[in-house]
Amino acid sequence: MAETSVLTPPSFAVPAAPGTRLVAASILSADFGQLASDAQRALDAGADLLHVDIMDGHFVPNLSMGPAICEAVHRHLPEAMLDVHLMVSDPAAYLEPFAKAGANHLTVHAEVVDQPADMVGRIHALGCTAGLAINPDTPVEAMFEAGEEFDLLLVMSVHPGFSGQRFIESVCEKTHALRTHFGSEVWIQMDGGVGPSTAAQAREAGCNVLVSASAIYGADDPEAAISQIRGAG
Ligand code: DX5
Ligand code: ZN
Repeated sequence: MAETSVLTPPSFAVPAAPGTRLVAASILSADFGQLASDAQRALDAGADLLHVDIMDGHFVPNLSMGPAICEAVHRHLPEAMLDVHLMVSDPAAYLEPFAKAGANHLTVHAEVVDQPADMVGRIHALGCTAGLAINPDTPVEAMFEAGEEFDLLLVMSVHPGFSGQRFIESVCEKTHALRTHFGSEVWIQMDGGVGPSTAAQAREAGCNVLVSASAIYGADDPEAAISQIRGAG
């Protein structure tokens, strides 16, 4: 049996208890021809939640999924927590469509949000928790002022757009700075290149929500991969 999560299903509305670590399976590396069963497979292997990567071909140089795909995943797996990562230039336009499609959590990028507090209010009004993300080249200070309002802070550990890229170790300094600044109960997520060989760096920097796509879906033993990404209690 896979390790069970502390919260089933988890919610970023609840402060992180010390030592809690969640593994989010990014369905970007799933087989889209059998998406529901591939999403279920990651949950069965021990993932706590599903990370849904939305790309608009503008904020990032790739296209991925829209609300209809999110709705289909939600319809087939209504109990799964859906963490929607909006890598789009105009996130405000997509909050409601994804909330209606079953998203539990919506993360927007600091690079394209002028009024973070307003964005949090809109996301919470839709019944979702709110996350703020920064790209590898964005200074961590972008999070210091606005971060308090958000339920989760996401430090990108690759340049967003594609799964299967190499973990950028230097961003761990930003994760550590966020953990020091915001304290032990904040949810801090890292996304990109996280797998059994890199997750320890992310965890040691203070990350407690580890996102992984290729290291889970490309593993011969996804249960072992998820367990290694989560690390020992
Ligand atoms: C990257 C996405 C990630 C991606 C991670 O733009 O935001 O969530 O799916 O893929 P891996 O884990 O393969 O780096
Ligand atoms: Zn992502």
